[in-house]
Amino acid sequence: MTILVTGGAGFIGSNFIFYLLRHRPDDRVICVDSLTYAGNLSTLSSVMQDQRFRFYRADICDREAIGEIFQKERPDVVVNFAAESHVDRSILDPSAFLRTNIFGASVLMDASLQYGVSRYHQVSTDEVYGDLPLDKPELMFTETTPLRTSSPYSASKASADLLAQAYFRTYGLGVTISRCSNNYGPYHFPEKLIPLMIINALNDRPLPVYGKGENVRDWLYVEDHCAAIDLILRKGREGEVYNIGGHNERKNIDIVRLICGELNKPESLIEFVDDRKGHDLRYAIDPHKIETELGWRSKVSFDEGIRKTIQWYLENRSWWQTILSGEYQDYYRMMYGKSDE
Ligand code: NAD
Ligand code: DAU
Repeated sequence: MTILVTGGAGFIGSNFIFYLLRHRPDDRVICVDSLTYAGNLSTLSSVMQDQRFRFYRADICDREAIGEIFQKERPDVVVNFAAESHVDRSILDPSAFLRTNIFGASVLMDASLQYGVSRYHQVSTDEVYGDLPLDKPELMFTETTPLRTSSPYSASKASADLLAQAYFRTYGLGVTISRCSNNYGPYHFPEKLIPLMIINALNDRPLPVYGKGENVRDWLYVEDHCAAIDLILRKGREGEVYNIGGHNERKNIDIVRLICGELNKPESLIEFVDDRKGHDLRYAIDPHKIETELGWRSKVSFDEGIRKTIQWYLENRSWWQTILSGEYQDYYRMMYGKSDE
């Protein structure tokens, strides 16, 4: 099978490429990525010479470039990870989110129809369901929970989900959609909570916690997410949505304290800062459908995953130190009012 992976130079896409090349020796993997600030070609350096892998630098909104790649590579399956993915950036300026996350997805679906792709998989997020109250722990997101988005990011992701369902119903494109909870692990871009806190703590920098740190996220080790998508591609039913999550809800403040503890850093580094606008209170995925229908289970516990992740950031300083220079500095200054150096 030839699997075309978009956004493969980012966090989850790169981990998915490594997963495929490791577990699926008969597959070819084509990566399409425009290398935005979040895409990093060095992440893929270990697979660049692999005969089963090919990289194209292209924007998923560029219909002509995408058409040429599909014409040349004739993918059987497309997995769309490419997206603007950071909620805070979407609050500062939604435009890139609308362009890539909605229009870009439609360009990929058009090409998938035109070139007879048998499966188009849209990588979505639990954020399309909005949030849950903190005081009702029994409530969880299921695949039938109504879409109720909070940020321009989640609104753009929900739009792509609706488009994918429309392409399935109207044109018969073989679509599947997955909605996963918060991922963590290697190659996670330093703007996101867990890598930001690890890196700032290592540098003895303040740890900026939004509001009171009471918001809850449901964390999944990235490899578990990759395994779930791989399973959906092979066994999932067309037209279906699958939630992915490992029942691991944590308050932000508890995660930050845990990172301080693991790195032997004082909790006095924690700084409570202004809350995110429209900040979702709690996410919690009910993964019953993917567990019972496809037999997926998360394998990595949070204790194991967070230790592996911290260890990875300790051992791969040059990966994140390169990112901390340049354009990222301007974003950090705008968000947190000080330089990250
Ligand atoms: P990321 O920001 O780390 O990576 C995104 C990648 O997409 C980058 O390599 C970037 O260069 C590329 N890209 C952006 N715009 C592009 C364009 N127009 N054309 C081609 N490439 C482009 O994101 P991530 O955290 O790896 O998330 C990947 C996907 O998974 C996203 O669709 C996101 O919505 C979804 N998701 C993420 C999480 C999470 O916790 N990170 C959870 C659930 C779902
Ligand atoms: O749930 C899936 C989503 O998870 C994905 O769709 C998104 O692409 C991904 O970025 C992530 O979104 P979140 O907004 O949940 O992740 P983030 O790491 O930005 O923030 C996690 C929590 O930590 C959130 O409640 C905000 C808080 N936070 C974040 C940052 C960056 C802080 O308190 N301080 C910070 O500096």
